[in-house]
Amino acid sequence: MAIDHAKVRRLHAMGLGPVWTLRGPATCDAALMSPDPVGHVAAPACSTPATALPGHDGTPSLMGWESLESSIRNCTRCGLCRGRTHAVPGTGDRQARWLFVGEGPGRNEDLEGEPFVGPAGKLLDNMLRALGLTRGQLTYIANVVKCRPVGDDGRDRPPTSDEISACLPYLQRQIALIQPDVIVALGKTAAVSLLDLSTDAALASLRGKSHLYAGIPLVVTYHPAYLLRKPADKAKSWQDLCLAQKLYDGRHGH
Ligand code: URA
Repeated sequence: MAIDHAKVRRLHAMGLGPVWTLRGPATCDAALMSPDPVGHVAAPACSTPATALPGHDGTPSLMGWESLESSIRNCTRCGLCRGRTHAVPGTGDRQARWLFVGEGPGRNEDLEGEPFVGPAGKLLDNMLRALGLTRGQLTYIANVVKCRPVGDDGRDRPPTSDEISACLPYLQRQIALIQPDVIVALGKTAAVSLLDLSTDAALASLRGKSHLYAGIPLVVTYHPAYLLRKPADKAKSWQDLCLAQKLYDGRHGH
């Protein structure tokens, strides 16, 4: 029997193959028809979080990109600054239409100063490619916290609520500057932080619907690191990305 290459490609794109091996833009139609669419530098002294972000003009809501990034790189608003090699402000197109938000830098990101450069980043790049996107073109990738949260055991850990509160104004300002058409929250930390929800909220209850952040459509999906551990959920993540695509298209009159 002849192999239906188009079908194989579609299944792979939806994460139904053994790995997410998409090599080019895929179609969202199938997913949308489903019933469930949708070496350390010297450690600076860290201070207690202030209510306003430090900036050249002292007014967070007026900070431009340069003062924002420099404030992030020199930030001492929480204890995470003590262990960092590099703060990781984010990367991409400052006029991005798509914003992807993760939790916080891990070891690789701390070493390189770039978000999502490890194995989870490779999967995120494949997810972008599935949408016909490339890192840096029409996309911006940021995290809720800009410095690596590291546990006493030396491993990556989720940020605490105090660390998130201290850092969130930076992400809020990035979003205000970018004004993306759609935000994709990668994982629960990004979702509950941006939507100001209780940490008790289950990720499953946040997926599959369109939320709003400051009037911008926001879709919640699984964190790529989780998908690496649970590849069977890539198909659901593909549905989420298709919902995000639909919301994006809606903003562009398609
Ligand atoms: N995980 C995240 O949430 N962000 C990164 O930048 C890398 C891994």
